[in-house]
Amino acid sequence: MLDLRRKILTKVMVINGSPRMEKGNTAYTLNPLIEGMRKAGAEVEIVYTKKQKILPCTGCFKCWGETIGECFINDDMQKLYPKLKETDILVMATPVYIQLPGLLQNFFNRLCPLVEPILEFRNGRTRVKFHDDVKTSKILGVAVGGWWEIDNLNLVVKIIEELSENTSSEYVGSVLRPHASLLKQETEKNKEILSTLESIGNKLIKKGKMDAKDLEFVSQPLIGEEQYREFLNKDYLKHKEEQK
Ligand SMILES: Cc1cc2nc3c(=O)[nH]c(=O)nc-3n(C[C@H](O)[C@H](O)[C@H](O)COP(=O)(O)O)c2cc1C
Repeated sequence: MLDLRRKILTKVMVINGSPRMEKGNTAYTLNPLIEGMRKAGAEVEIVYTKKQKILPCTGCFKCWGETIGECFINDDMQKLYPKLKETDILVMATPVYIQLPGLLQNFFNRLCPLVEPILEFRNGRTRVKFHDDVKTSKILGVAVGGWWEIDNLNLVVKIIEELSENTSSEYVGSVLRPHASLLKQETEKNKEILSTLESIGNKLIKKGKMDAKDLEFVSQPLIGEEQYREFLNKDYLKHKEEQK
């Protein structure tokens, strides 16, 4: 007999802002997370900003005035807007690029038509929120960096927190991976981190949150600061020497 009960899927949209797309450290960190979400039954769509034509916002304010909710720029955002409206969880994933890759910044700015500019005073500041027809209720960040300290990712986290506040979405936290390229090394520790990433994705769908101890585990140092700095400096100086 046919089961006619409709299964309600959690829809997730992952925006990956890395210009290195599938080959990048962002994707490498994201893959197990997405796998965990899919295993928990979520429908996940990955959008690489580099594969999209996303022009910069012109600041015309038409989407907040003459044509509320509509952007006149005819590019790939037009097909992303309806999908974004149907997304339950939005994942903003990016490498830190002092601070964001340009295409991802374009994406952030072009979210304006989804935002209703009725000003509210919330959490100590003037804020706005998504229009009522935007389903997104949770936003999380995934940020990777090249340098050693996790603090290199602070501003990216802040940007994602601000997006959550200004869309009145719940900020569920950020998965952070400093000196991210080292995660690709085949070590026992890295295997544990990859499986913790999968479990974070799984729990996020099943329980709607991420555990602080899992987040701390995936961000742990994979090498000493001095050793890492010396390794990178030596590599750069070798190139410099070769070019003399
Ligand atoms: C333009 C540019 C700026 C960067 N700025 C920072 C930075 O401020 N802090 C940091 O830790 N890494 C920085 N990085 C390194 C990248 O975040 C790092 O290589 C990351 O792993 C790249 O991710 P991807 O492989 O997914 O592109 C920068 C890289 C580029 C190209």
